Amino acid sequence: MNKLNIGLIGYGNVGSGVIKFLQSRREFIKYKFNLELNIKAIADRSIHAKKISGLEKTRLTTNAQEVITDPEIDVIVELIGGLNPAREIVENALREGKHVVTANKELLANFGKELFTLANKNNRSIYFESAVGAGIPTIKTISEGVAGNKFNRVYGIINGTCNFILSEMTKNRCSFKQALEEAQRRGFAESNPTLDISGMDSAHKLTILVFLALGKFIKVEDIYVEGITHIAHTDIEHAESLNLTIKLLAIAKKDPNKQIEARVHPTLITKDHPFASINGIDNAIFLDTYPLGDILVSGQGAGQMTAASGVVSDLIKLASMGKGHPPILSNITYENPNITIKKIDDIRTKFYLRFMASDKPGVLSKITGILGDHGIGIDSVTQKTRDTSIVPVVMLTDYTPEKMVRLALDKIHKLPIVNSKPVAIRMEKL
Ligand code: HSE
Repeated sequence: MNKLNIGLIGYGNVGSGVIKFLQSRREFIKYKFNLELNIKAIADRSIHAKKISGLEKTRLTTNAQEVITDPEIDVIVELIGGLNPAREIVENALREGKHVVTANKELLANFGKELFTLANKNNRSIYFESAVGAGIPTIKTISEGVAGNKFNRVYGIINGTCNFILSEMTKNRCSFKQALEEAQRRGFAESNPTLDISGMDSAHKLTILVFLALGKFIKVEDIYVEGITHIAHTDIEHAESLNLTIKLLAIAKKDPNKQIEARVHPTLITKDHPFASINGIDNAIFLDTYPLGDILVSGQGAGQMTAASGVVSDLIKLASMGKGHPPILSNITYENPNITIKKIDDIRTKFYLRFMASDKPGVLSKITGILGDHGIGIDSVTQKTRDTSIVPVVMLTDYTPEKMVRLALDKIHKLPIVNSKPVAIRMEKL
């Protein structure tokens, strides 16, 4: 029987999920893989305040370094999240000659290149299946399943909390706040939900997809990021009536000139797109590969046990490679020097625009006049009569450069007939 000695650092939602997973699947893993996944030690700041059962042989400590330097431990599982002290823990573990399994997307997004370089130097591997789409095998699909293919586009719904909120707002007509509270109550949202709803969590995951699939370690700041906090019920209703649906998408494309565009924003998609039926905390990642073609991976992308599943699959993978194996993905740090980043200003999409405007003659012509001055073509206009003096005016534009829309909206916002900041949601033909 092979045995892998594991040091777990961080016994929160995901950490305790890993223990629960291993306890319920221990016999199966032994039988199926001839492998004992032995939790030798757990470090957590408040370990002694936590109820832990069935781990009598496991050392429980508040000192992470004690676990990292234990010579019998083969792999450090980092599940504390955030940048610090996670970065130091992972670096120390690699220097101590341990493999690392982590679900920390923020860490890999910000310091991935440095950490993979350090892992290579120490002849060790970093496994990170749960960093994107939690347990959905996204990382292994890209790096193993379709290894050798060329990737042209990678895009997806990669934040379960935002997808849950938008789905709840659509299905139950509840407020943004109520939907967020429910996501937190169920343990999907990050401890600081700002990372989810601001789109930053998706941006962290997108940097990982970009370096794996498109071959460039972009900076998080290179990604245009917009969250979902400005999406109102009325936008969801208008989308419905146009046979469209709003999803928070993370999109990365590489064009033939080796320019990469990377962005995260609410996106209107048609109801017949497969993403339209991805609801709740489910995630879906679309890979446009050559020569294989299109691939869609989807499933539950947030939550304790799905994240734990990805971690356990990494541990089994690691054990199957042999403890002293050289780093897989050893060339992960290679970047094509000719790849550049496209600025958001130069990207062309269609837009849904909503203005809250006075309900009086001449308003539409003022708005369309400014749009026309900026070369923005209009595909359709809807203005529903209400019993109020301020009404929503919704327009769908033709393809238009981002910069022109921004300039036009700034001008329109200043019109006395426009009551609040115009809402713009990109429409993507995927
Ligand atoms: N907060 C994340 C989400 C958890 O909602 O998708 C999984 O990374």
